Parts: sequence; structure tokens; C-alpha cells
Amino acid sequence: MATYASVLDSIGGTPLIRLTRAAGTLRPRVYVKPEWQNPGGSVKDRAALAMLRRAEADGSLRAGGTVVEVTSGNTGIGLALAAAHLGYRAVIFTSSSIAREKQDQLTAYGAELRLVDAFVPRDHPDSLRSKGEQFVAETPGAWLAQQYDNPANPAAHYASTGPEVWADTDGAVTHFVATVGTGGTISGTGRYLKEVSGGRVRVIGADPVTSSYSGGDGSQKYIEGAGHFVHPEAAVDVWPQALDVDVIDDYVGIEDQEAIDAIRRLARTEGILAGGSSGIALAAAFRIAEGLTADDTVVVLLPDSGRTYLSTYFNDGWLAANGFTGPADRDRPGGPTVGEHAAASPLIERDETVAEALRRLAADGLADDDPVLVAHRRDGRVLAPHHSDIAGCTTPARLRGAATVAETVRPVGVRLGVGLALTDPAVTAWDGADGGIALVLDRGRVTGTVTWRALHREPTLALTEQAG
Ligand SMILES: Cc1ncc(COP(=O)(O)O)c(C=O)c1O
Repeated sequence: MATYASVLDSIGGTPLIRLTRAAGTLRPRVYVKPEWQNPGGSVKDRAALAMLRRAEADGSLRAGGTVVEVTSGNTGIGLALAAAHLGYRAVIFTSSSIAREKQDQLTAYGAELRLVDAFVPRDHPDSLRSKGEQFVAETPGAWLAQQYDNPANPAAHYASTGPEVWADTDGAVTHFVATVGTGGTISGTGRYLKEVSGGRVRVIGADPVTSSYSGGDGSQKYIEGAGHFVHPEAAVDVWPQALDVDVIDDYVGIEDQEAIDAIRRLARTEGILAGGSSGIALAAAFRIAEGLTADDTVVVLLPDSGRTYLSTYFNDGWLAANGFTGPADRDRPGGPTVGEHAAASPLIERDETVAEALRRLAADGLADDDPVLVAHRRDGRVLAPHHSDIAGCTTPARLRGAATVAETVRPVGVRLGVGLALTDPAVTAWDGADGGIALVLDRGRVTGTVTWRALHREPTLALTEQAG
């Protein structure tokens, strides 16, 4: 058993675990690297400590200073624990959409949490990034870690993760699979493994199918940490400097549902509880392993634990509400579902002309008050839209005579999963009254709408009959 001089010294040195059940009949050896064994619970402890130590060394962070980061959580947690240990103040800018467990962990370390939820491009003054930068500019002694562009992030993995994978496989690793968020993990680890193996190790980027890194449309996804999102109004798609694209040999695109299936299966067959981005990496690894031989050794990096996502990817209610399927769906009693009452609504874009929109809708033979979904512009869609890409709803009647599509749009706040039973609390609690419309989600994507009247027709009739 190792003894460490401090919690910071215990960062890194995670093991490899061979998959014996989840890998099924696959020929290569498949090992996972459970990065939740770091003290903050994720791979990002490595980058956080390295960035902080470099800032201390170059004088940008001094005693009494404030550690600041804009993060989807895990880097903030790594920084917060290091700041707590070293006596710095930590201020973390993040969004309320990140796992609740990560928010609570940040405050448990004494970090101050600033939640910023404006849905605007990164250069907008109200964006999460701008708010973090503004805070640093106004706060004496504040240092912004900037994990996306900080060379200490990939350097941490070149110095630790890469050598660990090489040593623990005795140089037998042939394929390294990891997700790409800032790109720090895959760039640093991948570069080391390529150098030490004389270029033999193949480095595979496991990417959400919508991520722009692997050629997706840049739309939002549900799995936190992996992939690259592009705001629909962003003028340019800016990639992090921490990402070294030359290191990645191939990308494998994975949908949210596949990632969720992979981690649920891993928990139930191996007894290993991994987080959502681990599911992307695992699903990608299994796909490439199908084409490999018994001479190959695949190492899959699992960034964080499923314990952080017990209320989402491992929660049957959350899955159903977002149109994902889980094992419980098979046991659910029959009965009418949201999907049976939903209509596949046509989609127009907010910035197209009214004439264009009406011409396209005419071909669909819609009634005047049929709902029409209005989406923010997104070129080359790979899946049905994510709900953040939906500006709202309109109708052919509202569009006729309007100057712009935008002026006819009414917001739609409610979202219902396609498989939800009509008796589900999410449905019965929906107080839309007549005329209300909900977005219907199938595997997390918006595939249509359902009216309040359609869903509540049966109960309403029953009540009327009773009253009569
Ligand atoms: C859960 C999770 N998975 C994957 C990643 C991606 O790691 P990297 O930023 O090193 O590419 C992150 C990064 O924040 C993460 O939090």
C-alpha cells in the first residue's frame, strides 16, 4: 500500500482493469483505466494540479491569490481541492445544467460557485467564459486556469497518464481510446504513447456523433465533458489549443443512447460504475475491437465515475423524461404513452424567409393551426435537433402575413420523453391548459410535438362524464 505526503501527491497512478465480461467475445484484451480513483474523482485532477503548479512557478498565482476556472465541473473540482489544500480561494464558473453532484462537490471543498446559464456564443459578454474573464480582470491576484488553451493540461498527461499506460501494459498497448473535451487527455497521453512505441500505438478519439471534432454538426448532447459544441450563432468554431489533432488517428462517433447503454451494461456485467463520457469511450472501444485480433491490447480511459450521474444516466425517471430507454422500460406496464399522441412536426429555421418556410410547409399539407417546430440554424444536421436548438413553435396561420419567421415563434418550455406513460407524474403535472404544446424527445432529440389537449383528452372526457 502506497503512502503519500499529501492528497496532491496521491493524484495519478490509477490502475488498469481488464474487462472479462463486458468485452464478450471480442478477441483483443480490453483494459479500462478508472480515473475516478484520483482524489477529486476524475481524470481532471491531473491537469488541474499541473496547471496550478505551473502558475505558481511562473508567478501568475501567488500566496493569497484566487484560482478561477470556467468548467463543466471536473477541472473545477481538481482545482478546488488543490486550492483548499494550498490555501487559495477558488471561484468556479459553471452552468446549472452540470450534474448536481459536481456542484455540491465544488462547494464541499469551499469553492465559490458562480452559475451562468445565458445561451449565447462564447464571445458574448454574458457567456460563461466572458463572465469568468471579467471576474479575473476585476479581482486582484486572480488567476484563470484556461484549461482549453493551457499547455500544462496536455503536459500533465504526457508526464503521467501516458507513462502509466505504457508501464502497466509492459509496452503491449496497441490502441488507446479516450474522449476529447479540451483534448488534454488524448493529446498528452497519445503523444507519449506514439513516441515511446515508435508510432505503433493507434490513438482513437471517441466522440459524440454531433461533436464538431469528428465532423458532426456541433449540436448539444447530454453526455458531459466529451466532444465539442458549437453555439448556433457562433461566427467561428474555435478549437482548444490543448488539442493536438495530429495525435488522433481515427474518430468513432457515438450517440448518447449508445454511451448510456454501455455504462449501464458495464455496471451490471462487470460491477464497474463509470460516468457518461466513459460510455462514449467504451462504446467506441468495443466498435474498434471488433476489427482487431488476439494480439491487440486496447486501453480505454474512463474519465469519471457513475456515482456523479446516479440522478441522470442511471436513473430510470430521467431516462424516460428525455426519451432514452433503460432496462426498466422492458418491465413497465403497458398503457398509452406520450409517443402514441405525438405528431412528427415539420421543422423550419428561424432565419429562413417566411416565403421559403411556407413553400416547404405547403408540401406537408398542414392544417392552419398545426404546430411547426422552429430551430436555430444548424448546417448538416446529423440527428434530429437537441432541445437547445429549438427556438420554439409556430403555425402556418401565424406565418402567413408575418414579416419574419422569428416574430411568429412562441417558446415551448415543456419536454416529454416519447415513452412516458400518460400516468407519469411528468405528464400529469404538466399544466399546459388548452393550447399548450410540449416537445417530444426520442433518444434525447426533438422528433415532434404533443398538444396538452391530445394528452389530457381521455382524463378530461372522463371528468366531464362524471360531472354529467
Ligand atoms: C467527464 C469528463 N469526460 C471527459 C473529459 C475530457 O477530457 P479532456 O478535457 O482531457 O479532453 C472531461 C473534461 O472536462 C470530463 O469532465
